[in-house]
Amino acid sequence: MKKLHFSLVGLLVFCSFTVSAQHSGSTKMDNFVNALMKKMTVDEKIGQLNLVTPGGAVTGSVVSKDVDTKIRNGQVGGLFGITGPDKIHRAQEIAVNNSRLHIPLIFGLDVIHGHRTIFPIPLGLSASWDTSLIRKSARIAANEATADALNWVFSPMVDIARDPRWGRVSEGSGEDPFLGSEIAKAMVEGYQGNDLAKNTTVMACVKHYALYGAAEAGREYNTVDMSKVKMYNEYLAPYKAAVDAGVGSVMSSFNTVNGVPATANKFLMTDVLRKQWGFKGLVVTDYTAVNELVNHGIGDLQTVSAKALNAGIDMDMVGEGFLTTLKKSLQQGKVTQKGIDDACRRVLEAKYKLGLFDDPYRYCNNEREKTELMSDANLKAAREIAARSFVLLKNNNQVLPLKKSGTIALIGPLADNKRNMLGTWSVSGDPEKSVTIIQGIKNVVGNDVNILYAKGANISDDTALIKRVNVFGTEIDVDQKSPEEMISDAVATANKADVVVAVLGEAADMTGESSSMSEIGLQPSQENLLRALVKTGKPVVLVLMNGRPMTLTWEDEHVTAILDIWFGGTEVGNAVADVLFGNYNPSGKITASFPRNVGQIPVYYNHLNTGRPYVPGEGTKFKSDYLDVPNTPLYPFGYGLSYTSFSYSDITLNSKTLKPGGKITASVNVTNTGTRSGKETVQLYTRQMIGSISRPVKELKGFQQITLEPGETRKVTFPISVDDLKFYNSDLKYVYEPGAFKVFIGTSSADVKEADFNLVR
Ligand code: BGC
Repeated sequence: MKKLHFSLVGLLVFCSFTVSAQHSGSTKMDNFVNALMKKMTVDEKIGQLNLVTPGGAVTGSVVSKDVDTKIRNGQVGGLFGITGPDKIHRAQEIAVNNSRLHIPLIFGLDVIHGHRTIFPIPLGLSASWDTSLIRKSARIAANEATADALNWVFSPMVDIARDPRWGRVSEGSGEDPFLGSEIAKAMVEGYQGNDLAKNTTVMACVKHYALYGAAEAGREYNTVDMSKVKMYNEYLAPYKAAVDAGVGSVMSSFNTVNGVPATANKFLMTDVLRKQWGFKGLVVTDYTAVNELVNHGIGDLQTVSAKALNAGIDMDMVGEGFLTTLKKSLQQGKVTQKGIDDACRRVLEAKYKLGLFDDPYRYCNNEREKTELMSDANLKAAREIAARSFVLLKNNNQVLPLKKSGTIALIGPLADNKRNMLGTWSVSGDPEKSVTIIQGIKNVVGNDVNILYAKGANISDDTALIKRVNVFGTEIDVDQKSPEEMISDAVATANKADVVVAVLGEAADMTGESSSMSEIGLQPSQENLLRALVKTGKPVVLVLMNGRPMTLTWEDEHVTAILDIWFGGTEVGNAVADVLFGNYNPSGKITASFPRNVGQIPVYYNHLNTGRPYVPGEGTKFKSDYLDVPNTPLYPFGYGLSYTSFSYSDITLNSKTLKPGGKITASVNVTNTGTRSGKETVQLYTRQMIGSISRPVKELKGFQQITLEPGETRKVTFPISVDDLKFYNSDLKYVYEPGAFKVFIGTSSADVKEADFNLVR
């Protein structure tokens, strides 16, 4: 991430004068905000709607100018992109001491998967399927963020994504609305705790509302066109779950939705968000999203700013369309005083809830900065959470776990590479503090294993790609040796070893924002290396670092084992070693299908049936399929192996009839049939066989995690009630429909037991 330095000119410390307030009780808040707003001029109200960045991590070409003067003039509501109690204290002093009404600022940042201690990328976190662990990661991130004086984080990102070409698939929780909703809720709870005014909690910001993950062709910022039935049933749930969990703010997305850009979309911002879901918090745009409405072709800056406010946007991130045009629009009757007041009120209410009117410096604490950032406890948690995110995709002949003896050839451009371990959106993470894979292995096995290392390849040899990826620093470095020399070194190294561990994959910024890719396999440089390693005849363990589902058809056929480690964060090397050598039994399961090739995209488990359904293996004419590839993905949603194995009994239903208001239970006995203790995520799916509209072939409705010792059997029971079976019909009414249902329980979306029941009126 680009770092620009924040310099506030003329920081004079005047005697501190703050507007005081209580922070409990909404009547008190209303009274306080009403009284304050009575004193405010229109300009000051519009000033509160202005979110600026003086630098830090930026994702657009614009950086705010004259920030300190604007703060003094009451033209700034909040700041993002700076961290640290000292800097933030200084900026807050300007607002509190030098602006006419002394209104404190809020301070935000992209804290996405950890703040200083970096956890796995969200797609990896979601693969743990462990909402309490994910909540814990958000709690730690909030602790660290507040110790760095922040009080607002632009997370969770909950965009459902079914197109791995889109780079931001890395930032979300995959393809499923149910799992996505559970994770959204956990993250909001983790960040916000039960009291926003505590100096260890932050206001969360769910993003990017809405449907950003459904960009056409997986191309960043692209158009979204979607039926409302699909939108309501398959995409909106995680945003709503965050709202239901009390998220303090929502960020509008860059894309259009059915022709209307989200940032000017009244249907999304007011009808759905505020009226249907009852959201009372603050809506902020994405970076310069108001200005970008001009490119969307819906008016000049004044017009689009008015449209955004009228749609229901409160705060304008960086572009200053609101600051520079809303007063004129008010005079011309294009926006109303009420519109401006409502937006201003929501900004002030957020500040009130954060306790900033009581103590604008409550998050500035040098002591906490010293003790809480990257504490031992946080690093320990990061190591465990990383291990929990890893997914074992293949393990032939139980080659994993590796023996803690003999010789290992550790090969690949990501094996000894600090720069890429943290993944995208780790703006406050320090790559230098990340544990590399080679270091982690040494930490865990010491001298018991002889480790031979060779780089083997560059992450990519494609100079145009390298230039794009390296825009914020050298993530892909090009070795002085030629590709041929590197491969022959690697092969010689492999030949001396008992087993090859190839650490391959993407550079951190090959995913994330503005990182769409049309090919999602390993880069040819690494593919060539891997082929040469496989040719040695040694067992090859592919440790894959990736921010998206990749196409791994060749790899799946030819390598012995594949461990997907995503971008595992600060402690990744230790966590990888824990798993490779069996100190930790992997239990992650993928939350986004891995396609066999790009042509299959989008491929996701919860699709509708067609009139001519695909029959696996049959290959007859006139079916909904491809001539050249099966419909199924290479690895389906919910899939992931363990060092042990599990068997599932048939499903027992306590009744075959479900009545409204009632409940039935579906149970299975799960047995650990292997030789190690292991964790299994037992997944519950249902299918409505006949409906007023076509319904998905499977929908996740529940999951439970159990740990079983070898030979142990546990009964896992899921309650099913009518609420679990509701959906939005073609009138967008949330209904249940009586009739036949199937229930499935299993180890992945593609490997389940099934039973039938009826929902009666
Ligand atoms: C991204 C957001 C982010 C914002 C602020 C934008 O480009 O889309 O996810 O929160 O920048 O950094």
